[in-house]
Amino acid sequence: MSAAPLQIVILAAGQGTRMRSSLPKVLYAVGGRPLLGHVLATAHALLRDTAAAEPPVVVYGHGGEAIRAAFADVECRWAHQAIQRGTGDAVAAAADQLTAHGRVLVLCGDVPLLRPQTLARLLDTPPDSLAILTASLDDPTGYGRIVRDAGGAVRGIVEQRDASAQEQALREVNTGTLLIPAARLHDWLGRLRADNAQGELYLTDVVAQAVADGVPVHGVPAPSAAEVMGINDCAQLAQCEAEHRRRQALRLMEAGVTVRDPARLDVRGEVSVGRDVCIDVGVILEGTVHLGDGVQVGAHCIVRDSVIGAGARVEPFSLIDGARVGDGACVGPYARLRPGTELAEQVHVGNFVEVKNARLGPGAKANHLSYLGDAQVGARVNVGAGTITCNYDGANKHVTRIGDDAFIGSNSALVAPVTIGEGATIGAGSVVVRQAPADALTVTRAPQKSVPGWRRPRKKPVP
Ligand code: UD1
Ligand code: CA
Repeated sequence: MSAAPLQIVILAAGQGTRMRSSLPKVLYAVGGRPLLGHVLATAHALLRDTAAAEPPVVVYGHGGEAIRAAFADVECRWAHQAIQRGTGDAVAAAADQLTAHGRVLVLCGDVPLLRPQTLARLLDTPPDSLAILTASLDDPTGYGRIVRDAGGAVRGIVEQRDASAQEQALREVNTGTLLIPAARLHDWLGRLRADNAQGELYLTDVVAQAVADGVPVHGVPAPSAAEVMGINDCAQLAQCEAEHRRRQALRLMEAGVTVRDPARLDVRGEVSVGRDVCIDVGVILEGTVHLGDGVQVGAHCIVRDSVIGAGARVEPFSLIDGARVGDGACVGPYARLRPGTELAEQVHVGNFVEVKNARLGPGAKANHLSYLGDAQVGARVNVGAGTITCNYDGANKHVTRIGDDAFIGSNSALVAPVTIGEGATIGAGSVVVRQAPADALTVTRAPQKSVPGWRRPRKKPVP
């Protein structure tokens, strides 16, 4: 890598007209992260490897404050481009934050999948040269074409709308990623003219200027076309998501995960895994997720910001959000774990059970049709079908405490704040409003009575 200081400019001011939306294009998400977030992460990864680098400059304009707000906690500098007059004008908007030393790497905010290792190849070119990351596309429509002379030397870039039929046949394109000697930048930007089909100041015109000034120009091919895909419309957004999905599934498979169908696994965040993890089809993993050794995730589950312990099973159609699931636990099918759920080892939470801000102790079971909210449930507790913690009195939330080894009969309502003692038994159908003592049966339902010889009413005969 070159020793000259690296400066990075990210272009993100464009309107994104082809998205047909009021959302600024660079705020659209791929893999759960805004396009610009991907590019900023790549820029930071690259800057980490280079000494004494200033944070990247993001050129913003369209959707201005929304973009700044979305990245308020990311280290970067901002340059405002009030009117979008083209990519050359966008770099000019950042110019007063750049020094004349080293090289300026220009990245597009709408090219999210570019990897730092690919950009490192660009940085390997001689320090005083201009380098362009290029790609060879089967369908180059819409991209600027790389024009080379008979000897293969780059002569310039011609945009789609300015290209002759002959130039349009060229398949090597500009990925929008240029590395420019900082000492030349000011001069070259000042000489840009908007005498083209779009009436814009094209950054790409600096290439012809470099050739004219005798500055060496290198076209560095990207390893894959998918990596340099630019997003201009919703179809390209979906293609990019598919590529991201493919990459993430591949990464997990390389880590030893059995992925039943990589095309039907969506990873939208940071996922770490132990050994022998198995993921069935239709699964979405979001945010920060850890799947421990031997975890099995059944079909059509969503796991978000959660830790799943070793040997745990998540059965189909479960939604796990902000939860910790203990080793050997079993969740679902059709379970919903909401934020603040903590299941200790060997807990079973079955179908149509919702748990929120609650801890279930080792071996506790709630297998059917329950709501456990704001609850502390002891070890080996059995929560019968249909049990509800009535945690909300209409104004405030209250806690339910259930001691170890308690047995809650089916269809009980535990009206919080309430405590069920250790080893207590609650008779089915009870509404518990006071403390239920340890090791005793508490039952609040009406006593059963039978009326011998009682007859059901008969239908009146139709006159
Ligand atoms: C640009 C390149 C083209 C390349 C393609 C790769 C130019 C003239 N063309 O075309 O050679 O093949 O990218 O994806 O550079 N932007 C601003 N301010 C502006 C205009 C654009 O910040 O005034 C930003 C956009 O937000 C976007 C990037 O620059 O992030 C590229 O702009 P876009 O309009 O998408 O350029 P393309 O037509 O794709
Ligand atoms: Ca583009």
